[in-house]
Amino acid sequence: MQKFETAKDAALTLRPDVPVYCFRPDVLIEDATNFMAAFPGDTAYAVKTNGEPMVLETLAKAGVSIFDVASPGEFASVRAVAPKAEMLYMHPVKAQSDIRLALETYGIRVMSLDHEDEVAKILRIVRALDLDPGTITLFIRLQTKGSAAYELSKKFGAAPAHAVELLQRCHRIGFKVGLCFHVGSQIEDPETYERALGSAHWVRARAGVPIAGLDVGGGFPAEYGHDPKSKKPDMPGLGQIMSRLRGDIAEWGFSDTHLVAEPGRVVVARAFSLIVRVLLRKGRRLYINDGIWASLSDSWTGKITLPARFIPDPARTRRNGNAATIAPFRVCGATCDSVDILSRPFWLPETVDTGDWIEIGHIGAYSLSLRTRFNGFYPDTFVEVATPFEAGGKPEGYASLETMGE
Ligand SMILES: Cc1ncc(COP(=O)(O)O)c(C=O)c1O
Repeated sequence: MQKFETAKDAALTLRPDVPVYCFRPDVLIEDATNFMAAFPGDTAYAVKTNGEPMVLETLAKAGVSIFDVASPGEFASVRAVAPKAEMLYMHPVKAQSDIRLALETYGIRVMSLDHEDEVAKILRIVRALDLDPGTITLFIRLQTKGSAAYELSKKFGAAPAHAVELLQRCHRIGFKVGLCFHVGSQIEDPETYERALGSAHWVRARAGVPIAGLDVGGGFPAEYGHDPKSKKPDMPGLGQIMSRLRGDIAEWGFSDTHLVAEPGRVVVARAFSLIVRVLLRKGRRLYINDGIWASLSDSWTGKITLPARFIPDPARTRRNGNAATIAPFRVCGATCDSVDILSRPFWLPETVDTGDWIEIGHIGAYSLSLRTRFNGFYPDTFVEVATPFEAGGKPEGYASLETMGE
């Protein structure tokens, strides 16, 4: 992989027409190490967030030895780069053949579920393979209430009384049991973990069975941009969220329980930026070479404000407008689909034009893993960059929170 000091150096040297991912391994190591140091339990990186071999290898080198996986593809990706790593199969709804593969071929011994029929599926395979249920830990996934860019409890999680029944059922069969939750990705309410811990406390007390572990999931927010025309959202940083979480864990009586977290976004978001090129400027519209079917779907569906830095093409000698004036531009993606228009504008210098580049920062989470081949476009070019995105100077623009009229 070619190495550059900054993304701007990469853009001006390569003059790329295709999107280029700028990987920052040192940033990834720093963010993973900080998380592991701050969380009072095991850290299982959520592979779905970004399962690129370069990411998994770097994390394994940084000391991450547990991975949260959700599919055979993810089992294989982890095994390929970290053969000794432990895998936690935390998808609550699994295909029977995948459960078998996990237990038989990959030696996975930790799974999650939120329904009795899932217990029946797992038990069938456990009996068929003649395994001792006492060697397997089943985490019962609890529904939570909160506010996040993605509310996962709309889809998964048992209500507290149902979770009590599931814990007792699995315990009676002979499985080890634990509790898990996911408060939603990119939380917007710092109290959300406390409410979930309170609920886990209630369930544990009612169930009256020994709890082998508590998995607090992901949700820890990554730092993104904010609309330059509005007040910065008042969200505490990871340090504050963690110190509050540690206090809440003690308050709800989980200090002596084996704890696990499954962070994704907060570990990998800052490790990548993306250089995109303006293929055409049409008035206040910019047509770029990436979009919602490639690296930008998370910012589109999650309404996430990404920081963006303008990299003007020095070969363009004439420009209109004032470089100091930041204006909103509607951003159209590379495909022929009219849905492929970002729902939020990018705020950029008025002078931005055809042929310029934009470096979109903090794009490591749910970007590469959500790329499609729609219309034949598939960004897959990587360079390594040494300088963290924020050290490259203040971003000129943001993919703003404000919806823009035509
Ligand atoms: C089961 C599970 N664990 C962990 C994660 C990672 O969450 P985050 O990226 O918010 O940290 C997700 C994300 O959807 C998930 O579904």
